Amino acid sequence: MGKIITVAHQKGGVGKSTLAMNLAVCFQDQLNVALVDTDLQGSLTQIKEELPDLSVISKDELQDIKHLDYDLIIVDTPPYLSNKLPELFGLSDFILIPTKAGFFDVMAIRSTIALLKDAQVKKPDIRAGIVMNMIKPRSGITKEVSGLLESMKTPVLHTMIYDRVRIARSSITAGVLQGNDSKAITEITALAEEIVNRISA
Ligand SMILES: Nc1ncnc2c1ncn2[C@@H]1O[C@H](COP(=O)(O)OP(=O)(O)O)[C@@H](O)[C@H]1O
Ligand SMILES: [Mg+2]
Repeated sequence: MGKIITVAHQKGGVGKSTLAMNLAVCFQDQLNVALVDTDLQGSLTQIKEELPDLSVISKDELQDIKHLDYDLIIVDTPPYLSNKLPELFGLSDFILIPTKAGFFDVMAIRSTIALLKDAQVKKPDIRAGIVMNMIKPRSGITKEVSGLLESMKTPVLHTMIYDRVRIARSSITAGVLQGNDSKAITEITALAEEIVNRISA
């Protein structure tokens, strides 16, 4: 079975689908990648035609994910704490948790982290990382937010993804890698590399 990266956060609008799609596009040159949409709202399924080189699969059945034959499976999840998440986390090699940098945004990842910790009790080698997304230029991460992140005892990825028009538009333009915003490309590529390094560490 290939590696499974699950992108999760119970809130909508934090960039799960955007990052899942951009990561899949980033890996597809080297690996046989499937992008699995478990969100019944199906945002990724709706842009399937924009991604002709990628297998975009709508799945609500975890059994099926287990049996997919790909090197890498990236799973996008819905914006609520689905009762399917514990099992999905248990199947995953890496859980990516995107958040904005606001205090309340970071507070909101606690229930996702709690699910992660539960899954790690049963399967300690599940890796995970919080990725700060939609960072505003010139506004870093405040002390309060750093403290809150630290208290969560989950790695915060070195790679941060800034708020970029090209990333916002990436769903209709088949990912930032196809474009010419070199900063956006650098960020997404760095995110992909960091995840690979953490999975193999
Ligand atoms: N780094 C970013 N810069 C600018 N816009 C972004 C970024 N990440 C996500 N977005 C935008 O934010 C919105 C929510 O992203 P989405 O991926 O749909 O979140 P989720 O899947 O968590 O609900 C979308 O309009 C998307 O284009
Ligand atoms: Mg989504």
